[in-house]
Amino acid sequence: MTSTVAWSLLWVVYPSLPYFGNALMYATEPWSGSYELRPTLYTTAHTTHSTKPDMKFLQVNDGSGLLNDSGSFVTYLDEDTKAFSVVVETLTFSFELGKTLTDGADAAPSLRAYRTRIKDDLFETGGYMVDMGKISPDKNSVYSIDLGVDEMWTLTTMDTTQHDSQFGETVLTPPESGRFPMPYKYSFDEPPPNAFGETAADGVASAQYWSDQAGVFAIENGRLVQQVPERPVEWSPEDAPSSVIGDVNTTDYEVKVKFQLNEDEVPEDAYVFAGVRVDNWNPNALVRPSGFLLTVYPNLGKWRLWAGMRLLSWGAVEFEDPFAEHEIVVRAVGDEVFGFINGEQVVDKKWKDWIRGDFTKGLAAIGSGWHRAAFDDFEINAV
Ligand SMILES: *[C@@H]1O[C@H](CO)[C@@H](O)[C@H](O)[C@H]1NC(C)=O
Ligand SMILES: *[C@@H]1O[C@H](CO)[C@@H](O)[C@H](O)[C@H]1NC(C)=O
Repeated sequence: MTSTVAWSLLWVVYPSLPYFGNALMYATEPWSGSYELRPTLYTTAHTTHSTKPDMKFLQVNDGSGLLNDSGSFVTYLDEDTKAFSVVVETLTFSFELGKTLTDGADAAPSLRAYRTRIKDDLFETGGYMVDMGKISPDKNSVYSIDLGVDEMWTLTTMDTTQHDSQFGETVLTPPESGRFPMPYKYSFDEPPPNAFGETAADGVASAQYWSDQAGVFAIENGRLVQQVPERPVEWSPEDAPSSVIGDVNTTDYEVKVKFQLNEDEVPEDAYVFAGVRVDNWNPNALVRPSGFLLTVYPNLGKWRLWAGMRLLSWGAVEFEDPFAEHEIVVRAVGDEVFGFINGEQVVDKKWKDWIRGDFTKGLAAIGSGWHRAAFDDFEINAV
């Protein structure tokens, strides 16, 4: 291996969002701490655990090379100490390898061997980085191993004892997987510490478990505030700022949240929304949470109920002061979705008669137009 590209080292994204995976490790449950080590982590470790900086690659045909065009081996050598490691990977053929690796050494050392075998049979892996014991050379300093299909091997003189726990058996057991904690209530009054355990002096912080999909939501003076004041140059079409949270499999629940707009900071048609059952994102479509979104335009005195990009219902609502604090509740129970603004029910819709598609479960969401918008006292309650 001269280089390897992993899209991300650690995938910390709600599982219903697009492009799931593509990382050496998954950690999608910060509330339980559960994580998953992926096969790509071990195939990377075959090299990274048996080499160190300043080792030299041996040239092709002089220690490294292809195995009959269906695999490869790369030798790393520490020229000072003569320590070396050989990393072998096979693709679709198997062969027997005998190779002299010890030119110039007084006596050929025995090598520690670790093997990853992708398939023992259809359903079982043969294990990751399994300790295969020591491989001794024959009297001509030739080492022989039987290579199977889809295998990686590391043969090394390196003393791996100091990180034995990461070779072979995985000693650390991840915490048990667990559901998102419900009911969930957050007033944003105490910003969580950052990854280094520090609380920002100005009190501005990311909100734990929230996953922004467009715009930026940060805790500011005890509220969660959308920060991006205008539509940016987009990476992909971004309909509106939104952030999601919760359990991808929850069906019947309500989201309750307070919001406030500042008259000096927002356009006339400013809006906010709260959503439930956000699921099945289409990454090529406009980035709008594809769930039930109750959208309120305080200054225009109207509301809209969306199912993703599809308008389900609409109406008027009067606010004495559009820029005071108001409350939205959106609730989904079976085939019905309900909306409340400041405690008054504005909609009760049997959605299955109106839309096709899977709006049966998913994450909670909040969002706004491209302007600042403050949210407070957020709750997810099972109903
Ligand atoms: C390499 O490939 C050739 C042609 O397919 C085959 O005859 C030979 O046995 C292979 N050698 C090894 C060591 O697998
Ligand atoms: C959601 O449900 C599916 C199907 O039952 C299951 O495979 C998946 O692990 C669940 N995910 C979570 C995060 O609970």
